Amino acid sequence: MKHIFQKGNDPTKPVLLVLHGTGGNELDMLPIAGRIDADASVLSVRGNVLENGMPRFFRRLAEGVFDEEDLIFRTKELHDFLDEAAEKYQFDRDNIVAIGYSNGANIAGSLLFHYENALKGAILHHPMVPRRGVELPNLEGKSIFIGAGSNDPMCSPEESTELQSLLESANANVHLHWENWGHQLTVSELEAAKKWYEETIK
Ligand code: MLT
Repeated sequence: MKHIFQKGNDPTKPVLLVLHGTGGNELDMLPIAGRIDADASVLSVRGNVLENGMPRFFRRLAEGVFDEEDLIFRTKELHDFLDEAAEKYQFDRDNIVAIGYSNGANIAGSLLFHYENALKGAILHHPMVPRRGVELPNLEGKSIFIGAGSNDPMCSPEESTELQSLLESANANVHLHWENWGHQLTVSELEAAKKWYEETIK
């Protein structure tokens, strides 16, 4: 997968896996990763799917309606890529924390829904429930921040709390943070994510 790897100053820190929203790329969210943890290594990936020229991490049939078959295929593709990247760049495969926005948060959520040890934690900015009716792996020890919008047109408050309870039922430690700015990623949400990361991930 097309990506950027930036080695951090502190090899004991998690590797921040950065996943952009629809129409973004691997450069967009680098400043956000630097803001969350300036000393951590960063692996920022570009989604392999194009929708009218806009990169995404998996196909959708309509806005908010995912192509499940492609979602499963692309989730495995990203999971395999993480294994390869850990070997190539010599980092600890078990110490990856994702930072995703929108479509990037959805593929990070899908990694958690399908694989027990894909991620150590995740900051999900405006995620949706990636799949329904599946049994989640045991996510004990995984820490997840959800940044949700009480008036997000892409994701209702009910869907945000549904995601929280699905992850908690799989034993994850989940913090749900509310904003009131639609689907936007605001500075106050980023500050809340940073505070959560400093207190929870260290
Ligand atoms: C998705 O397709 O992942 C969601 O609708 C969010 C987005 O548009 O990226």
